[in-house]
Parts: sequence; structure tokens; C-alpha cells
Amino acid sequence: MAAVRLVEVGPRDGLQNEPRNVPTAVKLELIDRLGAAGLRDIEVTSFVSPRWVPQMADQLEVMRGLQRRAGVNYPVLTPNLKGFEAAVAAGATEVAVFASASEGFSRKNINCSIDESIDRFMPVVEAAARSGVRVRGYVSCTTECPYDGPTPPARAARVAGRLHALGCYEISVADTLGTATPAAVLRMLEAVSAVVPVERLAGHFHDTYGMAIANVHASCEAGLRVFDSAVAGLGGCPYAKGATGNVATEDVVYLLHGMGVDTGVDLDRLVDCGQWISTTLGRTNGSRVGRALIAKRG
Ligand code: HMG
Ligand code: MG
Repeated sequence: MAAVRLVEVGPRDGLQNEPRNVPTAVKLELIDRLGAAGLRDIEVTSFVSPRWVPQMADQLEVMRGLQRRAGVNYPVLTPNLKGFEAAVAAGATEVAVFASASEGFSRKNINCSIDESIDRFMPVVEAAARSGVRVRGYVSCTTECPYDGPTPPARAARVAGRLHALGCYEISVADTLGTATPAAVLRMLEAVSAVVPVERLAGHFHDTYGMAIANVHASCEAGLRVFDSAVAGLGGCPYAKGATGNVATEDVVYLLHGMGVDTGVDLDRLVDCGQWISTTLGRTNGSRVGRALIAKRG
């Protein structure tokens, strides 16, 4: 089976909701260890309002301290032109804009309607094209919204299609709440892939109900070749109360290697990284594979 590209979102999605203050030096060490484990796309921070997400307020220090590795991309989140300009000035060469398939989450997360968010992304994509910066697009709540309830697949497809038409090179479709079953994900993917070619899609699954690894497997079988994940299953979204972290990168790597799919990741080094960040943050390692392999070492 063709190789899979993993987008490591631990330093951003993983840490944005962390209740404790995470020192910039810890973030930088995490990013470096992820790169050393073979991750080639590492989302490092967000250029969002510090009032909305205080944990990402050190975005400039993170960008300044990055020890860039050859062949590694370090994308950042930018909700608007202000964020984009600051990101590029800080050296970002790839950004991500983030929309929602549901109005309720759009308002809570970025304080505007879906239509308004697309209007805000337009100048970002135009400025990015002028400066040779790649833009990725996220669609949150593609199966369920914490405010509006279940999301009709056609609605997820509509927003994904708009981001693709705008010029995003890849659209990451998210189960923000982490409640979707593979059946719901496949219904959503069927609708989305009728509008955006499957080669341009990525899966972003939170793991609140323990379904995320099953969702990765189901979407991989359905043809997806890019997945977002967070080492040690870190994270959650501050505007999706109760939602837990992303699927753990260690678990995804173990699954894919078991399917004979190459990821370019060294599982042992990744497990070390997951255990190190869990210990450093004083939290339980959210990767079952990570915990089992650490226990096996004795
Ligand atoms: P707003 O309050 O409507 O913004 O927030 P505004 O344009 O009215 O400006 C208000 C103030 O914010 C002004 O400052 C602006 O300059 C400032 P003041 O004049 O009052 O001092 N401002 C900014 N500051 C820093 N960076 C910026 C920026 N823009 C304006 N980029 C805004 C709108 C979008 C800024 C706000 O709602 C926000 O920052 N939201 C971000 C929320 C967030 O980061 N959520 C988590 C990431 S998304 C996610 O986790 C989902 C994902 O993982 C996929 C999934 O799982 O679903 C991607
Ligand atoms: Mg997320």
C-alpha cells in the first residue's frame, strides 16, 4: 500500500488546551524530538489571539527558536491576514486556515460565520500565493458539532469544496469532538471526496470515544493517505468542551506499519518522545502503544 504522510499536530493542537503553562523551551525540545523521530510535517504553533488561546501566545519565540531540519515543514495556524502576516514575518513557509462545517463552532472558535471566515481566508490565500507560502485548510466538525449536533455530510463537503476552490493544497477533515464512528466518517468522506479529490484530503480525528484509530483505518482503506495525529495523544480544542486529544501518533504508526504502509517514522524514537513529553507535562501517556512498549522495556 502507498506510503502515508503524517502531520504531527502535537505542539499545536496537543498543547493549545494544556491547563499548565508549557515553557517555550519544552515546546522546542518536543518539536526537535519529533523531527528526530522522522516526522516531516510538524505543526508548531498558532498565530491566533492570545486572549483566545493563551497557550499559543509564545508563537514568536517558538518560531525564533526552531532548529529547522532539512526536509521538514513547520506549518502554523493563521485565522486571518493579521495572523498570516505575523507568521510570514516570523519565517513561516506554510500556514493553515481553519473553517468549520457548522455555524455554531465557527462562531465559538473564530467569532464569525462560515461565510465570513471564507471571506477572511481569501486575502490570506492571495497573499500566500504572492509570497510562495503553501496554505492547508481545515474543516472542523465534519460529522458532529458540540453546538449544532450532527453535521450533514453535504455540509462538510460544501465547506471543504470552498477551501479547495480557494487554493488550499490539502483539506484536513476533522472530527473535532472525537465521537464519530467509522460509518459516520465514511459517509462524510463519500460526500467530501465527490467535491475534493481524495489525494487532496487528510483525516484529523480526535479520540474522545476511542474511535480515532478505527477512523484512521477505515479512511486509509477508503484511500486517504494523509493523517494528522499528536504524539502521546496530546490535546483537545478549547472551544470543543470535553473533547480529548488527537489520535496518538505512536498508535497510527504502529497500525500503518502493521499494514505494511511506510510512514518514515522510527517508532522507538517516537515512543521515547511520547513518554518524555507525558512525564514532562505530568500527564498520563495517551498512546496505548507507547505505554505498552515502555512497560515491555521494563
Ligand atoms: P476577534 O475578537 O473577533 O478578532 O477574534 P477581531 O478582528 O475583532 O480583533 C480583536 C482583537 O484581536 C484585536 O486586538 C486584534 O488586533 C486581535 P485589539 O485591537 O483589541 O488589541 N487579533 C489578533 N491577535 C493576534 N493574532 C491574530 C489576531 N487577529 C485579531 N491572528 C480571532 C477573531 C480569529 C482572532 C479569534 O477568534 C481567535 O484567535 N481564534 C482562534 C481560536 C483557536 O485558535 N482555536 C483552536 C485552533 S482550531 C482547532 O483546534 C481545530 C483543528 O484542530 C481541527 C479540529 O480538530 O476541528 C484545527
Ligand atoms: Mg484538532
